[in-house]
Amino acid sequence: MATNTGHEKVEKNVGLLIVLVVLVISVGGLVQIVPLFFQKSTTEAVAGLKPYTALQLEGRDVYIREGCYTCHSQMIRPFRAETERYGHYSVAGEFVYDRPFQWGSKRTGPDLHRVGGRYSDEWHREHLINPRNVVPESIMPGYPWLERTKLDGALTQTKMRVLRTLGHPYTDEEITNAPKDLEGKTEMDATIAYLQVLGTTIKTRR
Ligand code: HEC
Repeated sequence: MATNTGHEKVEKNVGLLIVLVVLVISVGGLVQIVPLFFQKSTTEAVAGLKPYTALQLEGRDVYIREGCYTCHSQMIRPFRAETERYGHYSVAGEFVYDRPFQWGSKRTGPDLHRVGGRYSDEWHREHLINPRNVVPESIMPGYPWLERTKLDGALTQTKMRVLRTLGHPYTDEEITNAPKDLEGKTEMDATIAYLQVLGTTIKTRR
């Protein structure tokens, strides 16, 4: 017969077991998570990182509205198969001006974190109107209305002011000039401007 050790008490008392398991996981989790809030490499922008311009910011919102993230991740993992294909793996400091970040893990299409500069604006335009114009076997849907829809910049300055309170270093001038930057632009222009800046802060080898 086993003696009634503390261990046996824990094993036979489900309530106590649950409390202790939760405690152990919480402590383990906190030890891993809390330091990340104070570590420079996870909270500071990488050198040269700029907040999105008014046009890129609006493009990002179109990207989110259209659900591009449901098929595209924006996070290159530090594995050879990924870096050979996409370029330098993603680092946390590249995303400090992304609220919310678009990392994701669903990859029906390729990762887009370093798509900036990979294709011409014209390529993106053709591709977004109908992907099969440039990639015959593509299963990506077309977004032809982006080309026909004028950008609604009514909230752009407000968005920039809110982001500034969160630490995005917009100057007064950038905010004042936002409507001018968006003048005559379509949602297509904005989406392409956004795609073209993605992942370009870190020089990558491809
Ligand atoms: C249903 C899934 C799906 C959705 C939604 C989707 N894509 Fe794609 N995307 C793909 C697939 C699959 C490919 C690969 C074939 C191709 O290039 O068209 C791709 C390719 C791309 C590429 C080329 C990437 C490269 O490295 O060659 C870009 C850029 C892109 N998509 C942007 C977008 C944008 C912007 C949106 C939203 C407006 C979007 N995608 C929505 C599936 C999707």
